[in-house]
Amino acid sequence: MGRGGRKVALFLAAGLLALWLLYGMLSTCGWDDQRPLMMAKERYVVSSDRKVYSYDRFMPLIFIGGVPRSGTTLMRAMLDAHPDVRCGQETRVIPRILQMRSHWLKSQKESLRLEEAGLSKKVLDSAIAAFCLEIIARHGDPAPRLCNKDPLTLKSAAYLAELFPQAKFIFMLRDGRATVHSIISRKVTITGFDLTSYRQCLTKWNSAIQIMYNQCREVGSSRCLMVHYEQLVLHPREWMHKILGFLEVPWNETVLHHEEHINKPGGVSLSKVERSSDQVIKPVYLDALTKWVGNIPEDVVRDMAEIAPMLSVLGYDPYANPPAYGSPDAYVADNTKRIRANGRLWEDKAKALLEGHLEDSASDMPPAA
Ligand code: A3P
Repeated sequence: MGRGGRKVALFLAAGLLALWLLYGMLSTCGWDDQRPLMMAKERYVVSSDRKVYSYDRFMPLIFIGGVPRSGTTLMRAMLDAHPDVRCGQETRVIPRILQMRSHWLKSQKESLRLEEAGLSKKVLDSAIAAFCLEIIARHGDPAPRLCNKDPLTLKSAAYLAELFPQAKFIFMLRDGRATVHSIISRKVTITGFDLTSYRQCLTKWNSAIQIMYNQCREVGSSRCLMVHYEQLVLHPREWMHKILGFLEVPWNETVLHHEEHINKPGGVSLSKVERSSDQVIKPVYLDALTKWVGNIPEDVVRDMAEIAPMLSVLGYDPYANPPAYGSPDAYVADNTKRIRANGRLWEDKAKALLEGHLEDSASDMPPAA
């Protein structure tokens, strides 16, 4: 090769090296991740350790739902603690799009307009499925099993089951008196619930749970599992075994220690603004089981069976105040004692979480005095 040829070869090699360095720099800077999502054709997400997780409508998604204040956050935190599962915070937009669709369907005029505009059922279903899937897959870390917890989605379980043919549902049930007491005493606003009236809230609870119950039955027991909050907290090991078996997720002890994985990588991401975050940072405890007793007006207690007939359907005695929920496993009783004995520590942890700097976990909880 002549001098000229060597110069060209050297020039080419330098160019290639520069390109290679530039590529390396861009990929380590996460340039790939910063492309606008609207342009992303890919149906996959890449984890921080560069593993690729693809997602599609046929994957075995997990939906957790129920009437708000029924232990839905605890359920998702216990699953989030499992290394294979990611649920994450409430998305809020998924139940809303499902509700919008049901409004469109209810209105004959609107349905006709959509049909005439070419928005057939098929087109809408495909768009809604894509919307839900993008939100579920991209609002948190990737994981082999993706899960969503927006309590009210259970009202649309049958439709979701159609959109996502491999999805499974966990329906959290709780004594309606406890749920309503939680809503009222913690001032949790839910559309349609009048926080000044136990009677009205119990009526609303009854109709919401009735719809969800029917939906869960329609989906069938192979795809929708009813889990009583009381049984989950009294016997977490037994119930988590049942739940993981139902979901076909291998057993892992981490699900019994969700509090050790709060806001840790691959663990339980908590929102600073969700109403259950300061409760779910604690290990499973029993104190919420019977707080409602003595707080419901006499006349409402007297008429309970008529106001909330779903109580009996779900196996809660409407005349027992409280019913015998059962006796707890020893380690849950011990958790509860230790939480009571360390009230201050838990208040500080809750404060740290709400202020956004809870990095450590509950694993350092001292023993009960
Ligand atoms: P109370 O408000 O009666 O205390 P959701 O997450 O569906 O809104 O449910 C909230 C209820 O779950 C709360 O009921 C709360 O106590 C209960 N919960 C949250 N974390 C818990 C834990 N670690 N152990 C037992 N119950 C828990």
